[in-house]
Amino acid sequence: MSDVLAGLRLAHPVMVASGCGGTGRELAPYVDLDGLAFVTRTLTREPHPGSAMPRVLESPSGLLHAVGLHNPGIEVFLSDELPWLVRAGARVLVSFCATSLGEYAELTRLLAGAPGLGGVEVNLASPDADAVGAFDAREPFHAASAVAAVRRELPADLALLVKVRPDPVRVVETARAVRDAGAGAVVVGGALAAAMPDGRPAGLSGPAIRPVTLAATRAVRRAAPEVPVVACGGVTAPEHVRAYLDAGAVAVQVGTGLLHDPTLITRLAHDLEETP
Ligand SMILES: Cc1cc2nc3c(=O)[nH]c(=O)nc-3n(C[C@H](O)[C@H](O)[C@H](O)COP(=O)(O)O)c2cc1C
Repeated sequence: MSDVLAGLRLAHPVMVASGCGGTGRELAPYVDLDGLAFVTRTLTREPHPGSAMPRVLESPSGLLHAVGLHNPGIEVFLSDELPWLVRAGARVLVSFCATSLGEYAELTRLLAGAPGLGGVEVNLASPDADAVGAFDAREPFHAASAVAAVRRELPADLALLVKVRPDPVRVVETARAVRDAGAGAVVVGGALAAAMPDGRPAGLSGPAIRPVTLAATRAVRRAAPEVPVVACGGVTAPEHVRAYLDAGAVAVQVGTGLLHDPTLITRLAHDLEETP
């Protein structure tokens, strides 16, 4: 089976969600990365040490996480991590966010020349955005400005995905705005804004958010059928993938499910191959 997402050829429409496949090396003992769409953890211009511990806590039907966009910075990623992922055959999408429109353009220029890159995922959905001083993209107009800054610098043969907040009130408007600004597909369903028991800002992911992502996917498909949607939230079984595809998603991303069982993505892909 082969699928094309925003110009990117994939082995199947099940992708590794940002931040949930480590650097790729952690997944490799369990999963054949060849042809697999792998979204990196979100990279920033400067390295970020991340939040205090604990960063991840179980919650009923979900996972609370406050990682604080821990990452080595985009230049270290490009020299130390990307080449290995490309050699492993992964279709690499670099997730990134920036502090200003100028920095969005600058980071895109750095990525544009990276050998083997499949595309980018602009992260406009992070509950950690404040922790790194990210450009505030909550208003659809501002989200579109960030995407336009990336679009101008990104070569046409690289996929441009944009991850938007699963905000039930603004998700359709935001999806349309970023599509008009040049997004090839919209990733709907990042973590819901939540709090750790000690009050630190956190994201809530996992099965608890699946109905929210499903609603947002349906809403975008109904109101803006021209926007290709990648659904992300709570996938742990083949029937969840099918529910999203039936709701009109062109692909799904798997996050928390991989932290419980890294082989999940292989099983989901096999299921689709057996009963397409
Ligand atoms: C430990 C952890 C780290 C994450 N890091 C990122 C990140 O760096 N960038 C991002 O866009 N999303 C990040 N996410 C969110 C996931 O990509 C995904 O959107 C969210 O968890 C919902 O999908 P899920 O229910 O399948 O986990 C992270 C999630 C978890 C659990």
